Amino acid sequence: MKSAKENSKISISIRAMRSSDLEQIVAMERAIFPDPWPRSAFEDHLNQDGWGGFVAVSDEGVVGYACWMVVSDEGHLTNIAVAKSHRRKSVAQHLLEAILVVTKDKSCEFILLEVRPSNEEAIAFYRKYGFDVLYRRPSYYHNPVEDALVMVKYFD
Ligand SMILES: CC(C)(COP(=O)(O)OP(=O)(O)OC[C@H]1O[C@@H](n2cnc3c(N)ncnc32)[C@H](O)[C@@H]1OP(=O)(O)O)[C@@H](O)C(=O)NCCC(=O)NCCS
Repeated sequence: MKSAKENSKISISIRAMRSSDLEQIVAMERAIFPDPWPRSAFEDHLNQDGWGGFVAVSDEGVVGYACWMVVSDEGHLTNIAVAKSHRRKSVAQHLLEAILVVTKDKSCEFILLEVRPSNEEAIAFYRKYGFDVLYRRPSYYHNPVEDALVMVKYFD
């Protein structure tokens, strides 16, 4: 259990994602992203070894989620999103911290992610928590087509 910022009036807990969360998560994903993941992508994260997810839960239900996978010694942050109504209350920070713990525990030396260069909010968030741009992957995203910045954070 972790609390969000003290000055916010919400209480958030972080726990492992469950299949019973998927209806809310898929609805949030569709509301937030122009190129949303299908339900099956979240199901994969629940069912595959070395993949997983966390949700941030308030009295209103799921208000944020994040997914991870581990390949060899690489951790991957594959998705993270917070409901618009709950942003800037440290919800993503707590989700990211949970993913850093699990990927470190699985002996990862670093964690990678992809982000649209136009997504300045997410880039600001990732930079705050120690991610740097590694390289640019051309035309990685569709709908709309855009390059991806691959960002990395090395564990000490
Ligand atoms: C990126 C996102 C997950 C951040 O979620 P959040 O819960 O609002 O982030 P936090 O409150 O934990 O932010 C922690 C810090 O990150 C930085 N940050 C977060 N959002 C920011 C923004 N919009 N502009 C500038 N800095 C920001 C700030 O330093 C912030 O600390 P502060 O509020 O004390 O200034 C959220 O904006 C989101 O869901 N965006 C849409 C989905 C998305 O783009 N996901 C990433 C795909 S690659």
